This record gives sequence, structure tokens and C-alpha cells, in this order.
Amino acid sequence: MSSAVASTNQAADPVARVPPPMAMLAELTHRCPLACPYCSNPIALTTADEELSTAEWIDVFNQAAALGVLHLHLSGGEPAARRDLVELTRAAVSLGLYTNLITSGVGLTEARINDLAEAGLDHVQLSIQGVSPEGADRIAGYKGGYERKMAVASWVAATGIPLTVNAVCHRQNMGEIEAMIELAIRLGARRVEIATVQFHGWAERNKAALLPTREQVEHATRTVAAAREKYQGILVIDYVPADYYSQYPKACMGGWGRVGLNVTPSGRVLPCHAAETIPSLTFKTVREDTLSAIWYESDAFNAYRGDAWMAEPCRSCERKQVDFGGCRCQAMALAGDARATDPVCIRSPLRERLTRDTDRLSAMSPATLSYRGR
Ligand code: SF4
Ligand code: FES
Repeated sequence: MSSAVASTNQAADPVARVPPPMAMLAELTHRCPLACPYCSNPIALTTADEELSTAEWIDVFNQAAALGVLHLHLSGGEPAARRDLVELTRAAVSLGLYTNLITSGVGLTEARINDLAEAGLDHVQLSIQGVSPEGADRIAGYKGGYERKMAVASWVAATGIPLTVNAVCHRQNMGEIEAMIELAIRLGARRVEIATVQFHGWAERNKAALLPTREQVEHATRTVAAAREKYQGILVIDYVPADYYSQYPKACMGGWGRVGLNVTPSGRVLPCHAAETIPSLTFKTVREDTLSAIWYESDAFNAYRGDAWMAEPCRSCERKQVDFGGCRCQAMALAGDARATDPVCIRSPLRERLTRDTDRLSAMSPATLSYRGR
């Protein structure tokens, strides 16, 4: 551990002071049949031959369970692109992990869903891109995707596995939020998660086309509030508002290295999805070290734990235990410094500039979408 890091965090006895992770996101593969312009996966994707093997993933799950992880999110790319998905699910379930499959639905058949149910899969999170075949398939860049998703939802419902529908909303589908909520109810979902697009990875290229307008965001907030009242007891509605229009940043990942970790298809262990955009940090893989050592002892995980790393205004701010200074990757992208106050915060010296840029970009006539390359 570098002396700079050691002097600013819990390195003296990290195991005693850092709680174990509660959740792990296993990005089983970057392969994906869809081409969503809002994809937050990195520009350079892991190829199939670099992916962890079945045995390696099961070993990671074993380590995660021993470390204290309770929730395992099986994600991608499209996790159904892994032929061993049922085997991996069965192994995770046998370790007592709560398993959540995060899927576009493309690549799942009725038989495969039944196999996943039989393996003990606990929950399915199915993405939608819109509420009509034309609109949804245009955003996903995949013809026939919408119809497949509708079928997948009905097969999941038939197994009794609880279903969450999730949608990334942006300038081009923001007017459909009410219809998305109604669609989730029709599909038998117990929960809908509507998250405003974040500009990490590929999505950054589509900022001018996807950034919602202030009016859209205000309308969406009212729509969600009314729907929560209307569907109370029927559907849980999670909503992640557009933070570019918020006063304070979100507590990204519940705080760096506090609640969860991500493992990339090649086994790199990250504190968050976009952490590799921070050039000063290096991240180990599960082929190089144990999950436990990486969680408790690595420089990367310790870099932004606690508050000693913070600069002003965060350091003396009463909200620092609420939002932890916001998102490190957003600070890197917008301020050029991962230790800076997230520029979304009204106390950031960069907030005014962000507001000007946001208003300018969101007022641009829709640019051509740049689809995620496969
Ligand atoms: Fe959060 Fe820092 Fe802003 Fe305070 S100054 S609200 S800790 S981002
Ligand atoms: Fe990395 Fe927010 S995405 S800290």
C-alpha cells in the first residue's frame, strides 16, 4: 500500500474497520446482442476468450460468500450469452447467495428460464427500452427485441420468480415513463426501476442526443410521484432522477468500497462500474489476489474510503456521510480529478459550468445515435 493511501485511511487495521461487502455484481460477459447507445460498459470490451471460466466464476462466488456477500447480481453484457448461466446460478444458490439475473431477455428461451428456476434463481431484472416495438427496438438497435422481452416476462411470471422491469430513461423516451410503469404492471412485475441515463463508458458519446431537458425531468418527477400514489401496494417504483439537474450528488455505490463490488468478465475487481476511468488507480484481478485481500487491502478500494481523502468543500460539509462527496468517476470525468467534489453539488465551484453545459447540450436538436459496437 502506498504511504499516501496508508496515511489517509483505515489501512492500519482495515479488516477491523471496513465492513464486508453486501452485494457483488458479476459481469459474466461483455457479449451482448443489443447495441444500446446508453451502454455504460467501457469503450474497450473484454473478448470471449478473456472471460473467466466456469470454475473461476464459481471460485469467485465461493470467495464472495465467505467474505460476507449476500446479494449476487448476474449481469453483463448479456449474461444469457454465457452457456454456463444455469450452472453458475446453481452454484451461487448452493452457497446461499441471493441471485438476481439482470438481463435484456434476448438469448433466453422458455426452457432456459425453467432451468434457471429449477436451479433456484431468486429474481429477474428485465430491461426495456421503450413501450412500443418500433421505439424500443430503435433504441436497442435490435429488431425483434421488444417482442422477445414480452415473451420472457410471461415465461418468468409463469415460474413465479419475482420480476423487476428496469428502464433507462433519456431524452428520447422520457415521455414514456407513465406507459413504462403501466407496462410493468401488465407484465406482472412487482417493481419497476426507472433510472435516468448516466454518462459513463459508451453513453458519453451520446450525451447530446440523450441528455434530458429540464422540462422533461420536472415532468418525470411529477409523473413518478403520481404513479407512486396510484399504484401503492401494487408496484414498487424506484426512480433515479437526473443528477445533472439535482442540487446534490447521489451517494454513488452507497460510498466507495462500502457496500458492494463489481467483477468484470476477465475478473478485475472494481469498486464501481466505471472505476477504470480513474487513471491513478490500478485494479487487481481474481487471478492475481483473493477477493478478501482486494476488498480490504488494495490501494484502489482504500483510495476513497472514509473522508480523509476529501478536499473542501466536502471535508467540512455536514452531508459528507450522506453522499460521500458524490461519484468519483463523475468527478474524474467532469472535473478531471477523482478527489474533487462531484460537480453536480451546488457547493462545487464547477456547478455553474455544469448547469450551462447541461442546458446547452439538452437544447441541441437530437444528434444521430451512436450505437454500441459489438
Ligand atoms: Fe456532498 Fe461534498 Fe456537496 Fe457536501 S460539498 S453536499 S459532501 S458533494
Ligand atoms: Fe464510479 Fe460513481 S461510477 S464512483
